[in-house]
Amino acid sequence: MLELAAREGRATTDADLGKSPFAIRGLTVAYGEKPAVFSVDMTVPEGSMTAIIGPNGAGKSTMLKAALGILRPLSGQVTVFGRPLDEVRDQIAYVPQRASVDWDFPTRVIDVVLMGLYRELGLLGRVRMRHMARAMDCLRRVGMHEFAERQIGQLSGGQQQRVFLARALAEDAELYLLDEPFAGVDAATEKAIIAVLKDLKTAGRTVVAVHHDLSTVRDYFDHVFLLNVRKIAEGPVDEAFTPETLQAAYGGRLAISQHDLFSRNRS
Ligand SMILES: Nc1ncnc2c1ncn2[C@@H]1O[C@H](COP(=O)(O)OP(=O)(O)O)[C@@H](O)[C@H]1O
Ligand SMILES: [Mg+2]
Repeated sequence: MLELAAREGRATTDADLGKSPFAIRGLTVAYGEKPAVFSVDMTVPEGSMTAIIGPNGAGKSTMLKAALGILRPLSGQVTVFGRPLDEVRDQIAYVPQRASVDWDFPTRVIDVVLMGLYRELGLLGRVRMRHMARAMDCLRRVGMHEFAERQIGQLSGGQQQRVFLARALAEDAELYLLDEPFAGVDAATEKAIIAVLKDLKTAGRTVVAVHHDLSTVRDYFDHVFLLNVRKIAEGPVDEAFTPETLQAAYGGRLAISQHDLFSRNRS
């Protein structure tokens, strides 16, 4: 594992760090005695689409939550374009893993998206026409504008995921962090979501997503970060997403054949 991490290409410099929309240094997180994430460094290139990959329990969600200050790490620093996280929170939009959201109380779809405008609205701000128009526009981008008045709890999982993405779009952030955005969604929703993410990239935004489907990594992403408690590899897909690094991250647990991953989609 350690040899592979060392082989990930040239070392990052301070200049890389300053330009990176999301850089993590020395992140260690533990729930009990045993670290779930150990001494992780990550440097996301600006304008990239980066997949965070690793087996179940590898610490992917933990890493994102700790990097965002939702969980308290034992150690580590996070910078956004070289600045400490606390100064630049408004440049980050985060879409948590869907299973972690429970909608028992009645909330309309449009209200969920309006939550994405909270920085503009403030706690008691009045929702004006222009806010409504922006929220509707975000719903249109994910194909959910006809559901604006529905209760979020009445939607399918895939539809809910689109609404959460619309809320993130409303935040108009520089950096989008998504935890398994395609988990449990149908093919149409997956297509809709990836199209929106690629549009964000085209607009110069940076997208980082925890991703579990190894067969689509090459189509969807240009960079990868492989994690299994420690960093296994990081870099452009062609360099860091290899039989070697996958073996190191997944060991015997790789469900999909290497042939499927590396014989197709090689351009
Ligand atoms: N709230 C928690 N309390 C205790 N252990 C946790 C908690 N959340 C996650 N873990 C453990 O931490 C490890 C990493 O979990 P997680 O970050 O959810 O992995 P991943 O997202 O890669 O599947 C797992 O062993 C998991 O069981
Ligand atoms: Mg997870």
